[in-house]
Amino acid sequence: MAKKRNRWDFQEMKTKGEQCVWVTAYDYPTASFAEAAGIDMILVGDSMGMVVFGYDGTVPVTMEQCLMLCKAVRAGAPNTWIIGDMPFMSYHVSVEQAVENAGRFIKEAATDCIKLEGGVRVADKIRGIVDAGILVMGHIGLTPQSSAALGGFKAQGRDAASARAVIDDALAVEAAGAFSVLVEGVPQEVTTFIQKKLGIPVYGIGAGLCDGQVQVVGDLLGLFTAFTPKFGKKYANLAEVETKAFKDYVDEVKALKYPADEHKYHLLKGEEEALQKLFDSYK
Ligand code: KIV
Repeated sequence: MAKKRNRWDFQEMKTKGEQCVWVTAYDYPTASFAEAAGIDMILVGDSMGMVVFGYDGTVPVTMEQCLMLCKAVRAGAPNTWIIGDMPFMSYHVSVEQAVENAGRFIKEAATDCIKLEGGVRVADKIRGIVDAGILVMGHIGLTPQSSAALGGFKAQGRDAASARAVIDDALAVEAAGAFSVLVEGVPQEVTTFIQKKLGIPVYGIGAGLCDGQVQVVGDLLGLFTAFTPKFGKKYANLAEVETKAFKDYVDEVKALKYPADEHKYHLLKGEEEALQKLFDSYK
């Protein structure tokens, strides 16, 4: 069993140029498969809103949903670094609210750190959480919780003015004490600048090469079919596998092929006569 990592292991990976590979997970079996495969980190992302709960975004996701799924993932991956994703409006109101809710991830769901979206505008919340002794990962660029303000799920930093805002966010996240930052949906040039400028690890999704990559598990396994983002790469098509399995099951039950003899329980040896008498007694 691999030794459980700490923040300095991830810092050392950046120094050595070793990629950190992570994936989202929301349940016990997926987390256990990810741990068995040697995934470096698991994010219990608020993408659960779309992938698990069928919402059309992350905004409706609640603290209780996040905590429940974090607990399931921790049970499946006891030795993997787990990131709890703070949902919309769980850290926006005040530093006190942010610290209190971040603490719930650590105390109730045993996550190793929390992630929250935003840079300059949430720097005070990051500082407050870090001061409480909780590790924070920033999330900048395309931040889905504020997609309405961004005008949709659009790549950021594609012109100089927008790139400046992303870079300022990255600097603010590091200055506030975050141990790492996730950059989403920005051009490679901007990501590379941030990766070189920051001392902390810079991870990406739709941001090109940097210190590591994350993918949403539904995209990676071909389980989320509503849409595939430009940066999503399918490593399997489980939607096809699952649909075929359900169809085969329906066909076999309808044709009385399932359950077959090997799926049935049988009487204990020598019980046939007693059972027949029992049946007769009901006549
Ligand atoms: O919630 C999530 O899955 C995310 C992705 C951008 C990785 O934050």
